[in-house]
Amino acid sequence: MIDIHTHILPCIDDGARDAETAVTMLRMMKAQGVDLIGATPHYYCLDCTPEEHRANAEKAYGTLMYSWENAAGERAAELPEIRIGAEIYLAESLQAVEKPELLKISGTDLMLFELPFTGFTRWIPAVTELVAAKAKGRPLFAHIDRYIHLYGRRVMDALEALPGAAFQFNSDAFDDRAVLKYMYSLIDRGYAVFFASDCHGAHRRPPDLGERLPVLEKKLTKKFSAEVYAEIVQRQYSLLNSDSAA
Ligand SMILES: [Fe+2]
Repeated sequence: MIDIHTHILPCIDDGARDAETAVTMLRMMKAQGVDLIGATPHYYCLDCTPEEHRANAEKAYGTLMYSWENAAGERAAELPEIRIGAEIYLAESLQAVEKPELLKISGTDLMLFELPFTGFTRWIPAVTELVAAKAKGRPLFAHIDRYIHLYGRRVMDALEALPGAAFQFNSDAFDDRAVLKYMYSLIDRGYAVFFASDCHGAHRRPPDLGERLPVLEKKLTKKFSAEVYAEIVQRQYSLLNSDSAA
């Protein structure tokens, strides 16, 4: 199971507040059957450069691994694979950022973009396209479930038209009928979709994909078929090995 969007890295954003919390989160994910984690701390282009973000994320990953090894002892090697990336806040000024490729989820072409909650959205598709092209990446829109009522059809059409666009849904929206309707329509039209907990802590917004995904799997299998669900998952794994630079 892939949890592509998490805030598991300690002391870097509003996610895991310390290494102990991060270890607990990692333990929870492992127990739930997650085998691949996207560690995607928030990135705001006005706060730091992609190089600084990457260095901070790697340092936080080092802290997590050190604490994990101490806590897990001889079973420390049995842990989900962790890919470092970013949840990149989309701002107009992102166009000017150098080396945006450092924000991709490692080993992939995926750039997890967080769309803004602003009323004025006309610039969004153009800026996304520009930044993704500069990084030789493909956009993966974080928790798209939050925007379907917010953005007009025109903007959604433009996002869907971007080269390689993929869409991520948060586990807390798996029961929402309108969200499911949109998810089904994306799958029907051949888009790649990802699922995630977007977890921020061990108690507040905890990792819950292992509990929530089987419920969604049932719905998707019923709506489509077991084969289609297997194809969705297979595609996720192949996109996680999609680094064109590798
Ligand atoms: Fe997030």
